[in-house]
Amino acid sequence: MVYQEAVLLFLTLFQGHRAEKVVCDGIIFNHVYYDREMVVTNLGRPYNLVMHKFSGLLFFSHTVSGTVVNGTHADFLITTCHIDKKTCSNVKGVPGGYAIAYDAGNDDMYLGGHDGIYKYNFLTKSADFFAEEGRSIWGLFVKRNFYYIEYPTQKLRVYQDDEFLPVAEAVNIEIDHFFISKQMDVYFSNRTALYKVEKPKKEAIVLSDEIVVRQIVEDSYGDTYFCASDGIYIEEKPYHRIKKVAHIVQAFGLTFDEHDQIVYSDENSIYRLRPSQIANLCYEVLRNPVDTEALERMKSMLIS
Ligand SMILES: *[C@@H]1O[C@H](CO)[C@@H](O)[C@H](O)[C@H]1NC(C)=O
Ligand SMILES: *[C@@H]1O[C@H](CO)[C@@H](O)[C@H](O)[C@H]1NC(C)=O
Repeated sequence: MVYQEAVLLFLTLFQGHRAEKVVCDGIIFNHVYYDREMVVTNLGRPYNLVMHKFSGLLFFSHTVSGTVVNGTHADFLITTCHIDKKTCSNVKGVPGGYAIAYDAGNDDMYLGGHDGIYKYNFLTKSADFFAEEGRSIWGLFVKRNFYYIEYPTQKLRVYQDDEFLPVAEAVNIEIDHFFISKQMDVYFSNRTALYKVEKPKKEAIVLSDEIVVRQIVEDSYGDTYFCASDGIYIEEKPYHRIKKVAHIVQAFGLTFDEHDQIVYSDENSIYRLRPSQIANLCYEVLRNPVDTEALERMKSMLIS
């Protein structure tokens, strides 16, 4: 299957006496063409996209180059952008802010950086210290339990009896991304592969050892998505395999807005996918860029 990414392609459509220029600069996602709405650009590697649906705030971390922090030229910062208004502000008070998790049970956003875990304060738009002072936080996840992945050991810890303890099943392995689905299946990835642990079993089943996972998320229907360096994949249930649904050069993060619309990032920007008026035409064009005959057919369909 050939996937063509965001090619700038101008077509002139003649509708009645009016000539209209259209641009197919969106992407194909799961066999449907979508327009791409820019949410924010000029960022460095926007990682860990997490949408807070009630406030409309999109949380993400990104590298800030140019700022020299103790001799290092790049550091991480957490920023929020309103998904509709496109207004952004940096979250103060989280040095090296990188990890982000939403606690749906309590409607809280947790943030992690070089020096522990913080809770976002929606009134002051800053972060209040929460736990694990002096520890560097690589990943955070909250569902029933509160988990974090410590950097640089990549060890998974869980909150139990007033402290964060190593997760027994994962003491001897590294974990880079950790996720528990609505059905309580566990997904995780490390340098070796992407795995799934189905309840009540304990063994980790390999889903893929070919992709570089950057984020694991699910939509409101409970389908699991994997954002990888070369695009977006979904789990092909009930088989233990994944299927590519979008080709993206250097994808970094993925989340969904309140209408389950896809929000994703590449190396510099965050986009939201929108339904397109010319989805069929652009789908044909992107799938068969040199098939001018199909193009002419589509044009005549649009004119008539
Ligand atoms: C820079 O390093 C010093 C000494 O190691 C440390 O006290 C300080 O907190 C560091 N600053 C930042 C912003 O990380
Ligand atoms: C990744 O996890 C698998 C499954 O638990 C384990 O076999 C493998 O050793 C882990 N890789 C690393 C680098 O820890």
